Amino acid sequence: MIKKINKIKEKALYKINSANSLEKLDSLRVLYLGKKSEFNQILRSLKDLSSEKKKKIGSLANRVKNNIQESIENRISELEESEDAEKEWIDVTAPAHITMRNMKGKLENRGHLNPLSIVQRDIEDIFTSMGFEIADGPDIETEFYNFDAVNVPDNHPARDLWDTFWISQDKNRKKGSGIVLRTHTSPVQIRYMQKNKPPFRIIVPGRCFRNEATDASHEHTFYQFEALVVGKNVSVANFLYIAETFFAQFFGKEMKIRLRPSYFPFVEPGFEFDISCTNCDGKGCSTCSQTGWIEIGGAGMVHQNVFETTEYKKGEYQGFAWGFGIDRLAMMKYKIDDVRLFHSGDVRFTKQF
Ligand code: FA5
Repeated sequence: MIKKINKIKEKALYKINSANSLEKLDSLRVLYLGKKSEFNQILRSLKDLSSEKKKKIGSLANRVKNNIQESIENRISELEESEDAEKEWIDVTAPAHITMRNMKGKLENRGHLNPLSIVQRDIEDIFTSMGFEIADGPDIETEFYNFDAVNVPDNHPARDLWDTFWISQDKNRKKGSGIVLRTHTSPVQIRYMQKNKPPFRIIVPGRCFRNEATDASHEHTFYQFEALVVGKNVSVANFLYIAETFFAQFFGKEMKIRLRPSYFPFVEPGFEFDISCTNCDGKGCSTCSQTGWIEIGGAGMVHQNVFETTEYKKGEYQGFAWGFGIDRLAMMKYKIDDVRLFHSGDVRFTKQF
């Protein structure tokens, strides 16, 4: 009987150590230690033996039973550990965008720039290549910089050109001390000129706010872009050349430009300017109301009162200022028919860029 027990032990341990799945180990447990196992039959037959033999064989059988049991547990731990190690395996040859958890080669969802940021970067690239510097100013602005300093004094009807979000507007306030969400990027002209002497050329991309009833071409929050060139002998001809060069590069083709007389308090003379409609190449369509032209922004020669505010001597310098909507330009470049889509957060829209 002792021989039989040792043989069972030998066979069981061999099979357990070479088992390579948890299922296999489970069936070995039933085979060697289960109720109907050969080993269990031996244990049951112990009762027929003499007490001396019962003691000797009984203790051997118990040791072997524990041994088999332990071997099965050890082998289970080994198999579980190697399975974990396999999961943590890193394929160093996999492309960087495939993550460890995503080993099947599925592309990760990657973020990308909003079309407004793409267009803003394009604009900055073109202007910096023409020697312009990029300037910046605060979104929350004083009444002085947003209005007074750009020749729009308190109670001037021109303030109605901009539907303003006032943060503080005390009736008895000191002149220019109210706080607004800036309605345009023009106040940065003043901030820059107070710190710098001509000649210079700057661009100012930035966020603006207006208390608008929104529609397909008007948002309460939108982006503008200001250009300012100041020096001696700067003229409208310089503005036209810069504008033509910019639009040709931005749209990748020659664009026709048209100036129309207009009124902005901080320029004299002032004009609105249009470019030929990108949708119909100037032939006339619904986007341009059949005119062949699209209004892009305002421009003009800097008013001498503005120079005076920044403490440049009146008449000493000339300059042109130019401001347009980045949102509207992006709409034309990508043929987007509603400005509100930019901030909608709708991924079906943003995914297209
Ligand atoms: C101005 O804001 C002037 N500061 C521009 C300027 C600068 C004129 C320098 C002269 C010299 P205006 O209010 O027209 O002008 O706005 C300029 C452009 O901003 C518009 O042509 C349009 O492209 C864009 N814009 C204005 N309001 C909105 C709006 N609610 N939503 C989207 N774009 C807008």
